[in-house]
Amino acid sequence: MTGAVAKTLFIKTYGCQMNVYDSARMADVLAPLGYALAAAAEGADMVILNTCHIREKAAEKVFSELGRLKPLMARKRKAGGRMILAVAGCVAQAEGAEIVARAPQVDIVLGPQTYHRLPEMVARLARAEGAVLDTDFPAEAKFDFLPEPDGEAAVSSFLTIQEGCDKFCTFCVVPYTRGAEFSRPAAAVLAEARGLVARGAREITLLGQNVNAYHGASPDGGTWGLGRLLGALAEIAGLERLRYTTSHPLDVDDELVAVHRALPSLMPFLHLPVQSGSDRVLAAMNRRHCADDYRRIVAKLRAARADLALSSDFIVGFPGESDADFAATLALVREIGFAQAFSFKYSRRPGTPAARLAEQVPDAVKAERLAALQALLSEQQRRFNEAVVGRMLPVLFERGGRHAGQLVGRSPWLQPVHATAPPALIGRVVPVAIERAEPNSLAGALASQGAA
Ligand code: SAH
Ligand code: SF4
Ligand code: F3S
Repeated sequence: MTGAVAKTLFIKTYGCQMNVYDSARMADVLAPLGYALAAAAEGADMVILNTCHIREKAAEKVFSELGRLKPLMARKRKAGGRMILAVAGCVAQAEGAEIVARAPQVDIVLGPQTYHRLPEMVARLARAEGAVLDTDFPAEAKFDFLPEPDGEAAVSSFLTIQEGCDKFCTFCVVPYTRGAEFSRPAAAVLAEARGLVARGAREITLLGQNVNAYHGASPDGGTWGLGRLLGALAEIAGLERLRYTTSHPLDVDDELVAVHRALPSLMPFLHLPVQSGSDRVLAAMNRRHCADDYRRIVAKLRAARADLALSSDFIVGFPGESDADFAATLALVREIGFAQAFSFKYSRRPGTPAARLAEQVPDAVKAERLAALQALLSEQQRRFNEAVVGRMLPVLFERGGRHAGQLVGRSPWLQPVHATAPPALIGRVVPVAIERAEPNSLAGALASQGAA
């Protein structure tokens, strides 16, 4: 760090967990230049918006945020400084040129695959070469150039093992913003995981747009699927919990089902988006599975691990979705029973095949269906949370809670749990007696205060 002048960096992250991971890596590559993370944009020497393009609303947020940053940039300039403004992530990838045209205050536009070159972009900017645009593909290079981070890792850390998507669901921008599927070599994943555990991580969530399509080069010269990789990760001493997200039903193979049976550290909670319960809509979405395939996969997983709980994503109002199609979605939800779920109104994304379909569903119908689906899903979530009241659950404490003396952790099913507990328990899995279910979390008490 010799010679680096102390500067502050503020990163605002939108979208999925892969963006959360990428934001942390951008902070890592900028740290040697003297940038330390700040909690707010005001006064920062550099601001990065790490953006999401998945729905229209997500993309539009970026432009309003860029507007809000203008006076902050002006104040910084008045004080004799400069706030470098960078737009990263999927909006940058999809609309790089438009950002430069619509928001001339932006200094750097970089795609999700080029952030290892951020120091070079900052240097180019210092040489006054005008706005810098770097939205190259592919993903391979970026992982090779990331510095080994130091400092503490989060108790629950993310680790990206796979990037991009070859599925081309007809509604989705991801194959265009993140590019083709790429899996990191297993040795690189294992090394990063060991590093995270050495720095304090006790839970690792493997990330990928299609994480179970993982097929990385293995140390023995072959290829490993996700099941094999999870098996190897489970052997790392001190790594208490493993999770992975997001999975595609098509890529749930027998090896993956088997590790749900075999590995106690693999948590019994799976995000497995189904999107719709109608075969007609699933076909039009190019999901390449039908509702019965989903039922069969869930049955296999539950046979392997009886306490497995599921979460999903749903889209309502996909072009051509009829009342009967929507009823099939509600029926599937009732049948499967979800612990948690995300649901969205279909958003027409430029350049995707579904955007060109004639039978777009009116917004009022989408809103009505979304409300009905969400009512059912929140009822299921409430029931799932209430079912653990009175039980003793192993909770991995992650950090201090909102109230003094309180810690927050997660149950095996990712439910946030708060309890009065000493800070020394952060990073430990502790039995907690669950006393109450709140809409989005659980409240409990340590099983035996003395044992703490
Ligand atoms: N790879 C994951 C999902 C990534 S995007 C998968 O295949 O399941 C996260 C979620 O956003 C999707 O599951 C979908 O429900 C939603 N989504 C994606 N594109 C959308 C669109 N155009 N309109 C509304 N929701 C969308
Ligand atoms: Fe998008 Fe489908 Fe790929 Fe998921 S599988 S990222 S929804 S194209
Ligand atoms: Fe959004 Fe890009 Fe993730 S579009 S959901 S940030 S992959």
